[in-house]
Amino acid sequence: MSHTGPILEGEGNSDYERYVRVPELLRLQKPIELLSNPEERLFQATHQTAELWLHHIDYEIDRAVDRLGSGEVTQAAELLHRCRLILDLLREQIVILETMAPADYHVIRTSSLGRGSGQESPGFNRLLDVGQRIWPRFRELIAGRNVTILEIERAPREHASLFALVQAMLDYDEAFLKWRFVHMRLAFRVIGSKVLSLKGVPAGQLEQGTREPLFPELWDAISALTAEFKPTY
Ligand code: HEM
Repeated sequence: MSHTGPILEGEGNSDYERYVRVPELLRLQKPIELLSNPEERLFQATHQTAELWLHHIDYEIDRAVDRLGSGEVTQAAELLHRCRLILDLLREQIVILETMAPADYHVIRTSSLGRGSGQESPGFNRLLDVGQRIWPRFRELIAGRNVTILEIERAPREHASLFALVQAMLDYDEAFLKWRFVHMRLAFRVIGSKVLSLKGVPAGQLEQGTREPLFPELWDAISALTAEFKPTY
């Protein structure tokens, strides 16, 4: 008797397919005969995978917030680091769309997207308030340890685990800003900067989002440290 056949419930010929739910997953893609342009497959797959990863970041951020609440500084920093790596991956992933000719995208845009816009991405919108989710827990944590951000920055080795956490928060913040910047360049490359989006919003407004850090106080502390060193110009 064979012991290699699938034992899990579900669709698919193997346990791999059943666990990953490959048949259901691939059914989420438009059938080839319904694509408005051959390039649409790449466009849809890029957005679908982005939503999965954004959803996953949201999950890990909740875990990081819990870790901060229980004072597990290293674990919180590790989870933020993981989220930063996913954001880096997403940034690498979206530029693949720059290989698409603008003229092909216009067929997709006018035939398939309705009034859809990236602004409506639930995954992205959940991440807009990561600052508000993490910040109160972080403040409580450092208050409980009787230390300020500036003191952590002044003596990084004395406050090694808190400094590693601050670095992980800055890394996450920077990765999010970089995603927004690279996405803005992608939009300009494919539809231009002097046009309206499908929601009637000027595409150029994307620039605003590249200037909104999630943890402004952390960036301010770095400036304050520089000021303490009284540079002469
Ligand atoms: C051909 C490629 C793309 C073009 C031309 C494009 C274009 C745009 C434009 C013009 C906006 C601003 C106005 C609006 O929301 O309608 C926007 C926003 C947005 N798009 Fe895209 N996009 C592209 C690919 C992507 C991809 C792959 C994602 C992945 C999730 C994405 C996610 C978003 C998000 C999250 C926003 C809101 C950004 C913010 O508020 O900073 N877009 N996009």
